Amino acid sequence: MYKKMNFSSLCAKEVKEERTSTPHQLPIYAASTFQFNSIEESMAVFKGEQKGDIYSRFGNPTINGVAQKIANLEAHGSEIDAFGFLCSSGMAAISTLMFSALAPGDKVLTQGNLYGGTTDLLLKILGPLNIQTDIINLQDLDVVEEKLKNDPSIKMIYFETPANPTLDCLPILQLSDMAKRYDCITVADNTFCTPYLQQPFLFGVDFIVHSTTKYLNGHGNSIAGVLVGKEGHPLKAKIFQTLKLIGTNCNSWDAWLINNGMKTLAIRMDKHSENAQKVAEYLSKHPKVIQVNYPGLLDHPDHHLAKAQMRKFGGMLSFELDGGLESGKKFMNHLQFCTLAPTLGDVDTLILHPASMSHINVPPAIRAATGITDGLVRISVGIEAIEDIIQDLEQAIG
Ligand SMILES: Cc1ncc(COP(=O)(O)O)c(C=O)c1O
Repeated sequence: MYKKMNFSSLCAKEVKEERTSTPHQLPIYAASTFQFNSIEESMAVFKGEQKGDIYSRFGNPTINGVAQKIANLEAHGSEIDAFGFLCSSGMAAISTLMFSALAPGDKVLTQGNLYGGTTDLLLKILGPLNIQTDIINLQDLDVVEEKLKNDPSIKMIYFETPANPTLDCLPILQLSDMAKRYDCITVADNTFCTPYLQQPFLFGVDFIVHSTTKYLNGHGNSIAGVLVGKEGHPLKAKIFQTLKLIGTNCNSWDAWLINNGMKTLAIRMDKHSENAQKVAEYLSKHPKVIQVNYPGLLDHPDHHLAKAQMRKFGGMLSFELDGGLESGKKFMNHLQFCTLAPTLGDVDTLILHPASMSHINVPPAIRAATGITDGLVRISVGIEAIEDIIQDLEQAIG
């Protein structure tokens, strides 16, 4: 056939894949669309009567394979069959879920010490659409129950544990049990832990979201997110519709990068946790440090809760230097080995100032009420040699 084609047609035609064996690594499907052998096949796939890929905004083998792998990790060791949707960012995963699960007049119950972007989404995007947010201390279960009892418009409890950036932990089982009694769904942002350290499904949560940009990818070279739920949940079809129509889908290249990073997830999380414990212990003995927030410390108020829910305590911690903002600024400007950067979960140590970076748009009153002080410094402890990390902290604290 190709012998009869004109030169320009031969150029324009796609190469026909002649696969003789299976690649050992997941291929990157860079096709925006998929072709059909007949109109009957196309109709059957479009109607959902036959399995098949259509258009990469709806997913494709690279994207779907990685989404399902994360869903399987979240459900690992349980009888749960989970599904996953990869999105273009953690925020895309969170907003896809919110737009699927909530309608005008509904309310979200949440905590003040969330990732700043999530608080912003709730207050600035969903608020004007008449989806209101009630920010309370979710550690106070009596207040949570009172709210649920008196306000049937609360349709979702949304939380992070440990929370960003103060590392407070929440009792997942109690929150999800309570939510079920009041016909409300629970959503856990599991970005800080990954399913290796904590599996919210095992404590009754309905949906899990991640910024895969962080630990799941682990190498700081992709922005993406994932939304995981349980098969059979009535919202699954709505979520897929929202993802397709708002276009919050991930792309194949980022999906591939997440998968590549996840191959070392278990050993990375072990090392992050080991190093963070050492940094937390070092800082808590330092005379110029007045507060260290790390759930692995025996005197952390949520240590026992974290121990019951998490396999290890993770790589994130925050601390406050004596002298507040001024000492914090001096410390950050003196760093030589660790990097000042607004992300977390990479293999190298990253430091951030929440009040002027990740949480700058969170109303000061919410910051003050949740311990996000002007002097708080957050560290995403990497997997480098611990001596190099501590030596840098030592010289920067001065
Ligand atoms: C806990 C948490 N959730 C969600 C997000 C948003 O993720 P992304 O930046 O991938 O949209 C972040 C970003 O820092 C985060 O820290």
